Parts: sequence; C-alpha cells; structure tokens
Amino acid sequence: MLVKTAVRKVVVLGHPALRAPARLLSPEEIKDGAVQRLVQEMFATMAEYRGVGLAANQVGLSLSLFVMGLEAKHPRHEGGIPPTAVFNPQVRFLGAEKASDFEGCLSAPGLRGEVSRYLKLELSGLDSAASPFTMTCEGFPARVVQHECDHLMGRVYLDRMGDLASLSYA
Ligand code: NI
Repeated sequence: MLVKTAVRKVVVLGHPALRAPARLLSPEEIKDGAVQRLVQEMFATMAEYRGVGLAANQVGLSLSLFVMGLEAKHPRHEGGIPPTAVFNPQVRFLGAEKASDFEGCLSAPGLRGEVSRYLKLELSGLDSAASPFTMTCEGFPARVVQHECDHLMGRVYLDRMGDLASLSYA
C-alpha cells in the first residue's frame, strides 16, 4: 500500500447518524472502490480506538456495515474474533438463553453498563466481496454482533439496559 489507511473520527451520542437506521447496500455498491476503502478505514479506526466492533454510522455514515475483530488470548474472550466485515447483517437467535454482561461503546466514551443479550445466534450477510455468508456466534462474539446490529438500527446499548444502576465510568 502506498499510503497509510486513514483513521476516521468516531462520532459520539448526540450525532444524528447514531439514531438513523442504516440503509442496505447493493453488491455493486459493496464492490465500489470507495466502499472497499471505507472497510479498511473502519478496521484501522477500530484498531486506533481499541474497539472490538464498529458500525458505519459510528463514522457518520448511515450504511448497513459493521466490522469486528479481537486478537486471540484477549482477557475479554480467549478465542478472539477473526477480523470480519459484514454488510446488510441479519440475525437469527438460536435458543432463548440470555446472559448479562458489561458493554461499552466508542460512541459513549468512558461508560460501561450491563446488558442482557442472547447467548447464541446465526449471523448472515454479505462479506466484503459481496458474497453471502452465514456464521454462528456464541457468547462474547454474539454480544458484539447484537451490539453492532443495534447500531445499524439506530440504537445503542444504553437503550437495552433494563436498569441503569450498573452504568458506571470505566
Ligand atoms: Ni457501540
């Protein structure tokens, strides 16, 4: 690569993009050079801000796209999460089992709060080559997927907190 991939600015609560539902992308749009560059910039931005997931509306774009990734051996999730970009994600919950755990969000810096999420789900969507794929996620990765898919519907984890009493500064 001739030039370093740009890091985008992550918008915080109050920015209208965080509350706007994202629109789906066509396979042609996904293959467009500008969108391909956006995916790389979102990975670079997520790494720079030390996030585990990042939705396109967190960089101010109402597009149905998120990225996620976590190195293996990370204390949060031993198995890590392979770098994954998902366009037009759809989630199907597998089972009714839920678990509560703390979440944070790059768009609500410094805060942590407990959220109940489904434990297991099937994620489908288009990858960065616009090819359809399906994967099963369980535990922490399933939590990340639910958090990012919420973003794409204009929701944040704070909306999902049953009780704000656990909300705290990290
Ligand atoms: Ni978030």
